[in-house]
Amino acid sequence: MNKIIIAIDGYSSCGKSTLAKQLAQALNYIYIDTGAMYRAITLFALRNDMIKDDQVDVEKLKKKLNTIEVSFAYNTQLNISETYLNGENVEKEIREIIVSNKVSKIAKIEEVRAKLVEIQRVLGKDKGLVMDGRDIGSVVFPDADLKLFMTAHYTVRAKRRYDELKAKNNKVSYEEVLANIESRDNDDTSRTSNPLIQVADAIVIDNSEITPKEQFDIALKLAKDKIAAVN
Ligand code: DC
Repeated sequence: MNKIIIAIDGYSSCGKSTLAKQLAQALNYIYIDTGAMYRAITLFALRNDMIKDDQVDVEKLKKKLNTIEVSFAYNTQLNISETYLNGENVEKEIREIIVSNKVSKIAKIEEVRAKLVEIQRVLGKDKGLVMDGRDIGSVVFPDADLKLFMTAHYTVRAKRRYDELKAKNNKVSYEEVLANIESRDNDDTSRTSNPLIQVADAIVIDNSEITPKEQFDIALKLAKDKIAAVN
Protein backbone atom coordinates (compact mmCIF):
# COMPACT_ATOMS: atom_id res chain seq x y z
CA MET A 1 0.00 0.00 0.00
CA ASN A 2 1.52 3.35 -1.04
CA LYS A 3 1.68 5.92 1.73
CA ILE A 4 1.26 9.67 1.43
CA ILE A 5 2.63 12.85 2.98
CA ILE A 6 0.09 15.09 4.67
CA ALA A 7 1.21 18.69 5.20
CA ILE A 8 -0.74 20.79 7.71
CA ASP A 9 -0.01 24.50 7.88
CA GLY A 10 -1.80 27.37 9.52
CA TYR A 11 -1.87 30.00 12.21
CA SER A 12 -0.75 29.51 15.82
CA SER A 13 -3.12 27.69 18.14
CA CYS A 14 -5.71 26.57 15.64
CA GLY A 15 -5.47 22.90 16.49
CA LYS A 16 -2.99 21.80 13.84
CA SER A 17 -1.18 19.44 16.15
CA THR A 18 -4.37 17.91 17.56
CA LEU A 19 -5.60 17.15 14.06
CA ALA A 20 -2.19 15.96 12.88
CA LYS A 21 -1.91 13.54 15.82
CA GLN A 22 -5.43 12.20 15.25
CA LEU A 23 -4.75 11.64 11.56
CA ALA A 24 -1.39 9.97 12.21
CA GLN A 25 -2.99 7.63 14.73
CA ALA A 26 -5.94 6.75 12.50
CA LEU A 27 -3.68 6.05 9.50
CA ASN A 28 -0.82 4.51 11.49
CA TYR A 29 1.49 7.26 10.21
CA ILE A 30 4.33 9.15 11.92
CA TYR A 31 3.50 12.59 13.31
CA ILE A 32 6.08 15.38 13.31
CA ASP A 33 5.47 18.67 15.14
CA THR A 34 7.88 21.10 13.46
CA GLY A 35 6.92 23.95 15.80
CA ALA A 36 8.48 21.87 18.60
CA MET A 37 11.78 21.95 16.69
CA TYR A 38 11.81 25.76 16.50
CA ARG A 39 10.84 25.85 20.17
CA ALA A 40 13.73 23.55 21.11
CA ILE A 41 16.24 25.84 19.37
CA THR A 42 14.65 28.82 21.16
CA LEU A 43 15.09 27.05 24.49
CA PHE A 44 18.74 26.42 23.62
CA ALA A 45 19.20 30.12 22.80
CA LEU A 46 17.52 31.21 26.04
CA ARG A 47 19.60 28.85 28.14
CA ASN A 48 22.80 30.05 26.51
CA ASP A 49 22.09 33.76 26.97
CA MET A 50 21.61 34.38 23.29
CA ILE A 51 18.36 36.30 23.75
CA LYS A 52 18.36 39.58 25.69
CA ASP A 53 14.97 41.32 25.82
CA ASP A 54 13.89 40.98 22.19
CA GLN A 55 17.38 40.90 20.69
CA VAL A 56 18.80 37.59 19.50
CA ASP A 57 22.57 37.26 19.22
CA VAL A 58 22.23 35.69 15.78
CA GLU A 59 25.98 35.33 15.16
CA LYS A 60 26.50 33.47 18.45
CA LEU A 61 23.58 31.15 17.68
CA LYS A 62 24.76 30.49 14.13
CA LYS A 63 28.18 29.45 15.46
CA LYS A 64 26.55 26.92 17.78
CA LEU A 65 23.96 25.57 15.34
CA ASN A 66 25.94 22.49 14.41
CA THR A 67 26.15 21.49 18.10
CA ILE A 68 22.37 21.45 18.48
CA GLU A 69 20.57 18.18 17.96
CA VAL A 70 16.78 18.15 17.89
CA SER A 71 15.04 14.80 17.83
CA PHE A 72 11.85 13.01 18.83
CA ALA A 73 11.20 9.84 20.80
CA TYR A 74 7.91 8.11 21.37
CA ASN A 75 6.79 7.88 25.00
CA THR A 76 4.91 4.59 25.07
CA GLN A 77 3.39 5.31 28.50
CA LEU A 78 1.88 8.64 27.53
CA ASN A 79 1.36 7.65 23.89
CA ILE A 80 2.94 10.85 22.65
CA SER A 81 6.04 11.78 20.74
CA GLU A 82 8.36 13.93 22.86
CA THR A 83 10.96 16.49 21.82
CA TYR A 84 14.62 16.13 22.76
CA LEU A 85 17.31 18.80 22.76
CA ASN A 86 20.80 17.28 22.72
CA GLY A 87 19.43 14.12 24.30
CA GLU A 88 17.38 15.86 27.01
CA ASN A 89 13.60 15.58 27.09
CA VAL A 90 12.40 19.21 26.83
CA GLU A 91 8.77 18.55 25.95
CA LYS A 92 7.45 20.53 28.93
CA GLU A 93 9.88 23.48 28.83
CA ILE A 94 9.34 24.21 25.13
CA ARG A 95 5.61 24.81 25.73
CA GLU A 96 6.16 27.53 28.34
CA ILE A 97 5.17 31.10 27.59
CA ILE A 98 8.76 32.36 27.80
CA VAL A 99 9.58 30.13 24.81
CA SER A 100 6.34 31.03 22.99
CA ASN A 101 7.18 34.71 23.37
CA LYS A 102 10.60 34.39 21.74
CA VAL A 103 10.20 31.56 19.23
CA SER A 104 9.27 33.68 16.22
CA LYS A 105 12.53 35.64 16.62
CA ILE A 106 14.38 32.37 16.19
CA ALA A 107 12.09 31.00 13.48
CA LYS A 108 12.91 33.90 11.18
CA ILE A 109 16.65 33.15 11.10
CA GLU A 110 17.43 31.67 7.70
CA GLU A 111 20.18 29.31 8.93
CA VAL A 112 17.90 27.91 11.62
CA ARG A 113 15.19 27.25 9.05
CA ALA A 114 17.64 25.64 6.62
CA LYS A 115 18.88 23.27 9.33
CA LEU A 116 15.38 22.25 10.44
CA VAL A 117 13.95 21.92 6.92
CA GLU A 118 16.78 19.50 6.10
CA ILE A 119 15.96 17.33 9.15
CA GLN A 120 12.24 17.47 8.31
CA ARG A 121 12.84 16.24 4.76
CA VAL A 122 14.85 13.29 6.05
CA LEU A 123 12.05 12.43 8.49
CA GLY A 124 9.59 12.35 5.57
CA LYS A 125 11.66 10.39 3.07
CA ASP A 126 9.62 7.19 3.50
CA LYS A 127 6.27 9.01 3.40
CA GLY A 128 3.57 7.75 5.79
CA LEU A 129 3.84 11.03 7.63
CA VAL A 130 1.71 13.87 8.95
CA MET A 131 3.75 17.03 9.51
CA ASP A 132 2.44 20.30 10.86
CA GLY A 133 3.97 23.77 10.83
CA ARG A 134 3.96 26.95 8.76
CA ASP A 135 5.96 26.10 5.63
CA ILE A 136 5.36 22.39 5.17
CA GLY A 137 3.20 22.57 2.03
CA SER A 138 5.12 25.53 0.63
CA VAL A 139 8.78 24.69 1.32
CA VAL A 140 9.44 21.42 3.14
CA PHE A 141 7.21 19.21 0.99
CA PRO A 142 5.89 21.27 -1.93
CA ASP A 143 4.85 17.96 -3.56
CA ALA A 144 2.93 16.71 -0.51
CA ASP A 145 -0.02 14.55 -1.53
CA LEU A 146 -2.47 16.36 0.74
CA LYS A 147 -2.08 19.93 2.00
CA LEU A 148 -4.38 21.35 4.63
CA PHE A 149 -4.38 25.00 5.67
CA MET A 150 -5.99 25.54 9.05
CA THR A 151 -7.36 28.72 10.45
CA ALA A 152 -9.75 30.04 13.13
CA HIS A 153 -10.64 33.49 14.44
CA TYR A 154 -7.79 34.80 16.63
CA THR A 155 -9.97 35.28 19.74
CA VAL A 156 -11.16 31.67 19.45
CA ARG A 157 -7.55 30.54 19.22
CA ALA A 158 -6.48 32.67 22.18
CA LYS A 159 -9.26 31.26 24.37
CA ARG A 160 -8.31 27.70 23.45
CA ARG A 161 -4.60 28.22 24.14
CA TYR A 162 -5.41 30.02 27.43
CA ASP A 163 -7.61 27.12 28.61
CA GLU A 164 -4.88 24.67 27.65
CA LEU A 165 -2.18 26.56 29.58
CA LYS A 166 -4.45 27.02 32.61
CA ALA A 167 -5.17 23.30 32.68
CA LYS A 168 -1.40 22.75 32.89
CA ASN A 169 -1.19 25.23 35.80
CA ASN A 170 0.62 27.85 33.79
CA LYS A 171 0.20 31.26 35.42
CA VAL A 172 -0.68 33.38 32.43
CA SER A 173 -3.45 35.87 31.67
CA TYR A 174 -5.84 35.71 28.72
CA GLU A 175 -4.56 39.14 27.58
CA GLU A 176 -0.99 37.84 27.52
CA VAL A 177 -2.01 34.83 25.42
CA LEU A 178 -4.03 37.02 23.02
CA ALA A 179 -1.11 39.41 22.57
CA ASN A 180 1.21 36.47 21.93
CA ILE A 181 -1.09 35.05 19.25
CA GLU A 182 -1.47 38.40 17.50
CA SER A 183 2.24 39.04 17.43
CA ARG A 184 3.03 35.50 16.25
CA ASP A 185 0.46 35.78 13.42
CA ASN A 186 2.18 38.95 12.38
CA ASP A 187 5.70 37.49 12.66
CA ASP A 188 4.73 34.25 10.88
CA THR A 189 3.18 35.97 7.89
CA SER A 190 5.59 38.87 7.51
CA ARG A 191 9.03 37.25 7.85
CA THR A 192 11.13 37.09 4.69
CA SER A 193 12.37 33.54 5.17
CA ASN A 194 9.62 30.95 4.47
CA PRO A 195 6.63 32.97 5.73
CA LEU A 196 3.29 31.34 6.43
CA ILE A 197 1.34 31.38 3.17
CA GLN A 198 -1.74 29.61 1.94
CA VAL A 199 -0.57 27.73 -1.16
CA ALA A 200 -2.96 27.37 -4.07
CA ASP A 201 -3.34 23.60 -3.76
CA ALA A 202 -4.08 23.60 -0.01
CA ILE A 203 -7.55 22.81 1.29
CA VAL A 204 -8.66 25.36 3.88
CA ILE A 205 -10.25 24.23 7.13
CA ASP A 206 -11.64 27.06 9.29
CA ASN A 207 -12.48 25.48 12.62
CA SER A 208 -13.87 28.55 14.44
CA GLU A 209 -17.31 27.01 14.41
CA ILE A 210 -16.85 23.29 13.94
CA THR A 211 -16.08 20.70 16.58
CA PRO A 212 -12.79 18.80 16.69
CA LYS A 213 -14.73 15.67 15.72
CA GLU A 214 -16.26 17.34 12.64
CA GLN A 215 -12.85 18.64 11.66
CA PHE A 216 -11.27 15.22 12.07
CA ASP A 217 -13.98 13.55 9.96
CA ILE A 218 -13.44 16.06 7.14
CA ALA A 219 -9.66 15.63 7.19
CA LEU A 220 -9.74 11.85 7.48
CA LYS A 221 -12.03 11.59 4.48
CA LEU A 222 -9.69 13.81 2.45
CA ALA A 223 -6.72 11.66 3.49
CA LYS A 224 -8.47 8.38 2.69
CA ASP A 225 -9.52 9.66 -0.71
CA LYS A 226 -5.91 10.65 -1.46
CA ILE A 227 -4.56 7.31 -0.29
CA ALA A 228 -7.09 5.51 -2.49
CA ALA A 229 -6.02 7.66 -5.43
CA VAL A 230 -2.34 6.70 -5.10
CA ASN A 231 -3.04 2.97 -4.75
O1 DC B 1 3.20 25.53 16.01
P1 DC B 1 3.90 26.24 17.17
O2 DC B 1 3.08 27.36 17.76
O3 DC B 1 4.42 25.32 18.21
O4 DC B 1 5.18 26.93 16.49
C1 DC B 1 6.12 27.66 17.23
C2 DC B 1 6.70 28.78 16.39
O5 DC B 1 7.56 28.23 15.39
C3 DC B 1 5.69 29.67 15.68
O6 DC B 1 5.80 31.00 16.14
C4 DC B 1 6.05 29.62 14.24
C5 DC B 1 7.30 28.82 14.15
N1 DC B 1 7.23 27.77 13.13
C6 DC B 1 7.74 28.06 11.89
O7 DC B 1 8.17 29.17 11.64
N2 DC B 1 7.75 27.08 10.94
C7 DC B 1 7.27 25.86 11.19
N3 DC B 1 7.31 24.92 10.24
C8 DC B 1 6.72 25.57 12.46
C9 DC B 1 6.71 26.56 13.42
